[in-house]
Amino acid sequence: MRLHLGSDHGGISLRRSIVAAAVERGDTIASDEGPSDPADSVDYPDVAIAVCGRVLADHGSVGILVCGTGQGMAMVANKIAGIRAAVVVDPFSARMAREHNDANVLCLGERVLGAELAKLLVDEFLRARYAGGRHARRVAKIDRAGG
Ligand code: RB5
Repeated sequence: MRLHLGSDHGGISLRRSIVAAAVERGDTIASDEGPSDPADSVDYPDVAIAVCGRVLADHGSVGILVCGTGQGMAMVANKIAGIRAAVVVDPFSARMAREHNDANVLCLGERVLGAELAKLLVDEFLRARYAGGRHARRVAKIDRAGG
């Protein structure tokens, strides 16, 4: 799987551990956006917009956005046409966000999750496949909702 990662200053350490786990799993880190020093404060909307643009340009890829809570990243990402971003804190939702909602961006909160739980959430999200069928009509309605 080709991954586009990004974090603000509040998500650096979790972003690093997700990159390490992804490399170990054999996924491709297609891009990795954000500061490396927590003292380097950046605005999460700028990171989310950059990463989502890459996801849209790289068909079949997935975005992973990390901030303090995951919430701000998701709010920005879901304003971008073609992006379906899910903030996830449990493995079932991580799987369902892909299977039912065809999510293409996963948003995680470093100040909410431990590194091992976050790794499990990423694994579930990446392993799951969009089920299509009855969900396709609903996902199309999500994509039309923004006008
Ligand atoms: C940054 O302090 C924090 O607001 C940000 O990482 C994120 O949690 C916003 O949703």
